[in-house]
Amino acid sequence: MKKFIWLVTFLVISVALVGCGNGSSGSEEGEATRTVGIAMPTKSSERWVFDGENMVKELEKMGYKTDLQYAEDVVENQVSQIENMITKGVDVLVIASIDGEALTEVLEKAKSQDIPVISYDRLIMNSDHVSYYATFDNFQVGVLQGKYIEEKLGLADGEGPFNIELFAGSPDDNNAYFFWDGAMSILEPYIDNGKLVVKSGQTSFEQGATLRWDGAKAQERMDNLLSAHYSGEKIDVVYSPFDGISRGVISSLKAVGYGTDDNPMPIVTGQDAELASVKSIIAGEQTQTIFKDTRELAKSAVNMVEAILSGEEPEINDTETYDNGVKVVPSNLLEPISIDLDNYQEELIDTGYYTEEELN
Ligand code: GAL
Repeated sequence: MKKFIWLVTFLVISVALVGCGNGSSGSEEGEATRTVGIAMPTKSSERWVFDGENMVKELEKMGYKTDLQYAEDVVENQVSQIENMITKGVDVLVIASIDGEALTEVLEKAKSQDIPVISYDRLIMNSDHVSYYATFDNFQVGVLQGKYIEEKLGLADGEGPFNIELFAGSPDDNNAYFFWDGAMSILEPYIDNGKLVVKSGQTSFEQGATLRWDGAKAQERMDNLLSAHYSGEKIDVVYSPFDGISRGVISSLKAVGYGTDDNPMPIVTGQDAELASVKSIIAGEQTQTIFKDTRELAKSAVNMVEAILSGEEPEINDTETYDNGVKVVPSNLLEPISIDLDNYQEELIDTGYYTEEELN
């Protein structure tokens, strides 16, 4: 009988202890209720949709709640979305800015409430309240685009001259300057020695800039360039930093008859490996794009969230390059990959980024 009582006592104590165990995972539940506010620029470019989805997936897997907002490229909307997140008391903010210069004030509010901020893909400028920056090697993106043109045309072997026109990204996005500078580090010597000819004479960033990366604006500019400088002349290359711009450029080229056997498309570069552009590469229209794996970028940002909330150091590999005007923001740079017809299968389908069916 005594044995039986001991056994019952033992069982009761064990159950109570297990209960305590559950209780302590209550503190994990406490952590699980932490919310990450994610402010993204626009759904109009599918890459940001993937970025948002991937981050939510990763964060939820780890027990966080998320508040994901898109501002359709309207700066004021993004500011008020961030304000709302601050008011709701999110624990961390992850922001891919529309205008990198427009968030100084709202980040002061985040600072006053001790809400850390991670800059996502694009650097937030003029604020000391940016803890980390998760991005790709943006200069290298431009270098890869420039090298692609150099190799395709045989410029290093002295081929040329070829006609080229140059597009740049949005002047309110710090990345745009890195892409341009990277590309020009390769192309400029050939412009200087006459092997690349810019018939429009528009060789500065400002002249090539495309506000908000807007494909329609690029198309309009390309229409103008073609009618002003290429009647009776062939264009051989268009340097474009982003798939949305490339597609605008390609529409313009098609409208004046490029894209046939007799009049093939010029080389057109791009960036983001967006579905429509990969299809365009397969169809022989766009020539190249840059693949920046949004799954990896999301993981890098999530690693930063985790580290901040647990008082640890995240993975960082650059503490020199990204000066936002107030501080050099510690960054984690991922490697971009150049894609064309030869390697899209290996890089995009075999890695599960797209399925074969999606590209059909
Ligand atoms: C840049 C980004 C590019 C491209 C572009 C337009 O900031 O780094 O990958 O997405 O914006 O959205």
